[in-house]
Amino acid sequence: MHPFTALANPNIAFIKYWGNRNDALSLPANGSISMNLEGLETRTTVIFDTRLPADEIKINGKIARGMAHARVSKMLDEVRALAGIQHFARVESENNFPTGTGIASSASAFAALALAATKAAGLDPSTSSHRPGVLPGYHPDVLPGGHLFDLAALSRLARRGSGSACRSIPGGFVEWAAGTGDADSYAVSIAPPEHWDLTDCIAMISTDHKLTGSTEGHTMAGTSALQSARVDDAPRRLGICRHAILNRDFAAFAEIVEEDSILMHAVMMTSRPPLFYWQPATLAVIQAVRAARAKGLPVCYTIDAGPNVHVICTWAAAEKTAKLVGNIPGVREVRLAKVGGPARLVENSSTILMRFE
Ligand code: PMV
Repeated sequence: MHPFTALANPNIAFIKYWGNRNDALSLPANGSISMNLEGLETRTTVIFDTRLPADEIKINGKIARGMAHARVSKMLDEVRALAGIQHFARVESENNFPTGTGIASSASAFAALALAATKAAGLDPSTSSHRPGVLPGYHPDVLPGGHLFDLAALSRLARRGSGSACRSIPGGFVEWAAGTGDADSYAVSIAPPEHWDLTDCIAMISTDHKLTGSTEGHTMAGTSALQSARVDDAPRRLGICRHAILNRDFAAFAEIVEEDSILMHAVMMTSRPPLFYWQPATLAVIQAVRAARAKGLPVCYTIDAGPNVHVICTWAAAEKTAKLVGNIPGVREVRLAKVGGPARLVENSSTILMRFE
């Protein structure tokens, strides 16, 4: 069997996923919309090997144990079951950005793993038929190398590793339908990367690992009295956001993205026990962004499960935005990411995989 290497970008959600109907399958309480983040990436190599006594997993240069090992092995088990093989695998995964800080590293990690592992297991999704999209504006993605993957199956597999990972399989602007069950809860592109030159200026406030991860956070969402109102209103927000993206309407986009992010944080802050991800600099960035938009700069903010602020603007406003945000006390660094493509395979992975010590 041969090693395969895949690359995937993380994504930033404009309409957030928070809380599940089914935690084991990551079936979300509501649909969500995101864009992939170009330049930030996870690179994962997988080889199945008959000689291995167990799965050997290395993440960012360290041997994975405990929960991290179990989550990767669980996805490998699913791939083994699909491919009808029993061998264990060697997995090496590297991020080129800090993990656990509000840049969704689990999204790119499980998207890259799903793609590399299915190919390494000898599954050839390119032979399966492509399902028609469930959403308006859907177009099929052809991954580099000319293979037409069944992106729906790959997106569902990635979702079961970490919900938001299903959105890092297709390219560009992506919508994940909540669906009615495992079969129809996956993500599709609603517009390609070149549709709109949005840029994420990520205000890095802390690179420490967050205290409560999203897996635990999702299980607590239902303890907030506000969660049911947030979920019931989600179709309205999804509709406005989708329409704003398809029409490149920044004013409508900015209002709905900020409203959605604050709704999620209101749920987090009113969960039992409460989850506060913000730091003082988080609020300083929020205020500066709102003031700049009031003066005409096309800019808005959104925040995931961490203190960092994703400041979204058009490419033309990126330099001004990065300067504005970078000068706020408490912001250590600003990273820029344009709209990214789909998860993809890398040629010649045999040279990349090394033996574990
Ligand atoms: O995929 P998870 O379990 O890491 O959840 C992601 C949750 C948020 O990043 C806070 C929101 C989102 O939709 O990405």
